Amino acid sequence: MGWDDWIRGAEVEPSLYAADFGRLGEQIRVLLAGGARIFHFDVGDGYFVPPITFGPIVLKSISEAIHAGGGRIDCHLMVFYPERHLEALANAGADSVTVHAEACGDRLPAVVEQARALGLQVGLAFNPETAPERAAELSRSVDFILCMSIHPGYGGQEFMPDALRRISRLRELVGDRVHVQVDGGIGAENARDCHEAGADLLVAGTSIFGAEDPVAAYRGLVDALR
Ligand code: DX5
Ligand code: ZN
Repeated sequence: MGWDDWIRGAEVEPSLYAADFGRLGEQIRVLLAGGARIFHFDVGDGYFVPPITFGPIVLKSISEAIHAGGGRIDCHLMVFYPERHLEALANAGADSVTVHAEACGDRLPAVVEQARALGLQVGLAFNPETAPERAAELSRSVDFILCMSIHPGYGGQEFMPDALRRISRLRELVGDRVHVQVDGGIGAENARDCHEAGADLLVAGTSIFGAEDPVAAYRGLVDALR
């Protein structure tokens, strides 16, 4: 099933990159009970981005609980050659994959087609340097556009204010055709601005999992969008 009718105006996606991996299952359960519906799963290959993060094996260990709790899994592939990982991620329970335009080059149409054939929703991510005009042009066949508000790779970085201008310009260019996602440095201080600029999927790692009460932090972000 597509996500268009399922997304409630705007959604906050807790980014598991910032979770305590020793208590991953428990943190997911608590957030599901607290209303979270989309979990962001950052795959880094140590090549497109410096760190190696996690991949299908970890995903497999949590996907059943997320789906049983009514949630979905949005995989952000910060990797070169995403086509090598799509099938394994789909088998491990991914619901969507977002690939970086900068990592795909002219293989992009084939990557999108492969992801669709696996039944995945597809997003296209753009680094801060990529112009919104270019992003809009490349995103004709995808469901999400991910506008990075940091340089991808690590959590805990500061939000780049220029992202607001890029989000509004993107929205102007694509209308309501696709979801616009923002990722990096999102917290209570900028969530509303991102939403007003046109983002309807907000990824937040540190501001949720770094908080004393992650559910309260998640709800605070959701409330900021209402
Ligand atoms: C990093 C990842 C982000 C990361 C965001 O490049 O793509 O999803 O988890 O973390 P915060 O919210 O801490 O900036
Ligand atoms: Zn991400």
